[in-house]
Amino acid sequence: MRQKKVKYATHEVLASQGVLIDIKKINLTQPKTFLEIGSGKGHFITSLAKDHPKNTYIAMEININVCYRILEKKLALNLDNLIIILGDAENLLSYLDHRSIDGLYLNFSDPWPKKKHHKRRLTAPSFMERYVKVLKDQAFIQFRTDQIDLFDSSIEYMHQYIKIEDINYQLEPSNYMTEYEIKKRELGPIYQLVGKVEHHVKENI
Ligand SMILES: C[S@@+](CC[C@H](N)C(=O)[O-])C[C@H]1O[C@@H](n2cnc3c(N)ncnc32)[C@H](O)[C@@H]1O
Repeated sequence: MRQKKVKYATHEVLASQGVLIDIKKINLTQPKTFLEIGSGKGHFITSLAKDHPKNTYIAMEININVCYRILEKKLALNLDNLIIILGDAENLLSYLDHRSIDGLYLNFSDPWPKKKHHKRRLTAPSFMERYVKVLKDQAFIQFRTDQIDLFDSSIEYMHQYIKIEDINYQLEPSNYMTEYEIKKRELGPIYQLVGKVEHHVKENI
């Protein structure tokens, strides 16, 4: 979806406030780190970071205009434990060490309805391969959407990579919701899938 252009959202402004613009490895120092890919305007990840100051959170967003909105929230809430990456999930392995992340959130990822675009979905196999590499053993992936076709296809993609532990076709509201979730709840059900990485099982196949 096209996002409104934000006047101050330039690479220079974002970089001067600590947003990662260049592709380089992140040095993680806290024991627990959680990642959200496609964070949009950042309501979800900044709320988590505010409530859990001992954890590190990483927001990865490809669009500079919405990335700027995450930065605004980070600065307003004074969040030292939130790292913002302006970047593409395709390059995830260049930012993160293998087995360094405790949990991954995918919230309302673009549905890419046309079959020829399915490979761009953030739950597609080529992305799942990258996620499993950066996630620790027993780390979780939580995926939420209002798009039933994307949801059902994602169950198929994801079960090849993680152990799916919970599938919910009528998710109740919670304390941590994205901008999209708040809007889409007015229109219909929200679906959620939670699964766990099992490196030992994959390695034995
Ligand atoms: C439909 S929006 C949802 C935003 C937010 N998660 C929410 O629920 O409000 C999807 C977001 O994913 C971002 N995105 C799409 N592909 C991406 C990629 N390859 N890497 C990083 N972000 C991506 C888009 O720029 C957009 O902000």
